[in-house]
Amino acid sequence: MIVLGIESSCDETAASVVDGNRVLSDVVSSQVDVHKIYGGVVPELASRNHIVSVAPVIETALKEANTSLSDLDGIVATSGPGLLGSLVIGLQAAKTLSYATQLPFVGVNHLRGHLLAARIQDETDTPIPEFPYMALLASGGHTGVYHVRDWNDIECLGETRDDAAGEAFDKVAKLLGLGYPGGPVIDRMAATEGDEISFPQALRQKKSYEFSFSGVKTAVAQHVHAIDGAPGESEMFAIVRGFQKSVVEILVRKVVLAARQKQVSRVVLAGGVAANSGLRAHAAEICTQNDLTLFAPPRKRCTDNASMIAYAGLLSLQAGERSGFDISPKANWPL
Ligand SMILES: Nc1ncnc2c1ncn2[C@@H]1O[C@H](COP(=O)(O)OP(=O)(O)OP(=O)(O)O)[C@@H](O)[C@H]1O
Ligand SMILES: [Mg+2]
Repeated sequence: MIVLGIESSCDETAASVVDGNRVLSDVVSSQVDVHKIYGGVVPELASRNHIVSVAPVIETALKEANTSLSDLDGIVATSGPGLLGSLVIGLQAAKTLSYATQLPFVGVNHLRGHLLAARIQDETDTPIPEFPYMALLASGGHTGVYHVRDWNDIECLGETRDDAAGEAFDKVAKLLGLGYPGGPVIDRMAATEGDEISFPQALRQKKSYEFSFSGVKTAVAQHVHAIDGAPGESEMFAIVRGFQKSVVEILVRKVVLAARQKQVSRVVLAGGVAANSGLRAHAAEICTQNDLTLFAPPRKRCTDNASMIAYAGLLSLQAGERSGFDISPKANWPL
């Protein structure tokens, strides 16, 4: 089955053609330069930029896959959760194409896309996790532990009580004047050798799968304010290393705890924060210690992409699911 997927839930306009779990094309147009100067995504600007990009991105995805609309078996778009003004653009494009071509159409949950992304066969030798697996989803808007029993049988075991992990990376980077988005720059700085400041890990001893990241963000802010003047370079690096360590350790601890308690042998990383090299290295170490098999998909499958949406939608279409043209985008849509 060959499917076109469209993703527009935040500030990436993306389209992809997949054949089963193989990617034929994967086009992402990022708006990061538009939002950078504001230090975060401006919804109105995101929506306007999706309007400009959506048609060329779809055309490029079809061309790069050497396909035309007549080769497709279905059309998929993210229908939530996300920014309403952004979602509506990709969703409307998908509905329009489906109406014009009479191809079946389905709206997909963005989080389900992230959670199934590890099953995409990017290289022939990429190890693919079988079901069931325990997934850590850590992104810009969500952070939680998910028991993925099957593609359509996913249970959220616990979520963040406040900020998402990616949001904490972005806010701490902003506070330290490191720019937007914060994840990649903090990742690079934290990969260096040197001292680190110790920051708290909320809910560490609790045997639940909940997270809280507002405390570590406040602790970083208080540490910076206590310094006389702006932090120097070595102080800045020590703060960044300590912050990343705090976030990474608690993320890995909770997903490994869940895997052990539910007796699931596979652990999967998902969402933009899963691109973090410190998280990937720490997860590999702790999973080995606990006899768990870790699946950390390529970085481009962690951050927003349309292949994960196309693949998740393809599974729905194969199961006979269809969406009507009356479906609306959903800002909130828990799995
Ligand atoms: N290398 C990295 N280390 C840590 N965080 C990262 C890294 N790369 C990206 N991120 C973070 O990932 C987030 C973006 O991830 P993603 O695109 O999955 O989120 P989103 O789509 O905005 O949110 P959601 O999926 O919850 O709707 C940003 O907060 C960004 O800072
Ligand atoms: Mg996302």
